[in-house]
Amino acid sequence: MTLTGHLRGVAATRALGRYLGERARPGDVVLLEGELGAGKTVLAKGVAEGLGLDEAVVTSPTFTIINEYPARLTMYHVDLYRLNEDSDFEAEGVLDVLGADGLAVVEWAERLGDARPAGALTIRLELVDGDVRRASLIDEGGRWLDRPGLTRLLSVEDSAGVD
Ligand SMILES: Nc1ncnc2c1ncn2[C@@H]1O[C@H](COP(=O)(O)OP(=O)(O)O)[C@@H](O)[C@H]1O
Ligand SMILES: [Mg+2]
Repeated sequence: MTLTGHLRGVAATRALGRYLGERARPGDVVLLEGELGAGKTVLAKGVAEGLGLDEAVVTSPTFTIINEYPARLTMYHVDLYRLNEDSDFEAEGVLDVLGADGLAVVEWAERLGDARPAGALTIRLELVDGDVRRASLIDEGGRWLDRPGLTRLLSVEDSAGVD
């Protein structure tokens, strides 16, 4: 199932993240795609807030690949910017985190290639202009997108964004 809509301003992206963080269950994976500045880290900070963390503790993990934050569920914040499809995700510890009992939030998930896990929620962010981002949510596990609250958060004007 896919849902597409717009995030008008940082607060909207943050709110979407919070929504996901509040509802996450052990083993959930959120894959974030989109170019530099698309809003992946903003969204990840919202997720942290939703888990009850102080969003200020969450920083871009570009140099560490994986940051781990203890919360209601352990949040694994992963940034694959420096890796590519040919990287050894096993050796980098990424596969462990994707199969762990916490919540994994992965920036630059495009880089996973064949290592992409099944059943994840993928969120693709695109710059529209100014503070507007287009967001496409692809819910392979089918457990996120049946919620009417998401349609409001994504400013989907009508059912055209849902299929
Ligand atoms: N609707 C929006 N959602 C997310 N970020 C936005 C939005 N509008 C403007 N921005 C700005 O875009 C930038 C996104 O940065 P960041 O989240 O670090 O991107 P990424 O992690 O995808 O490289 C921030 O400077 C943020 O203030
Ligand atoms: Mg980032």
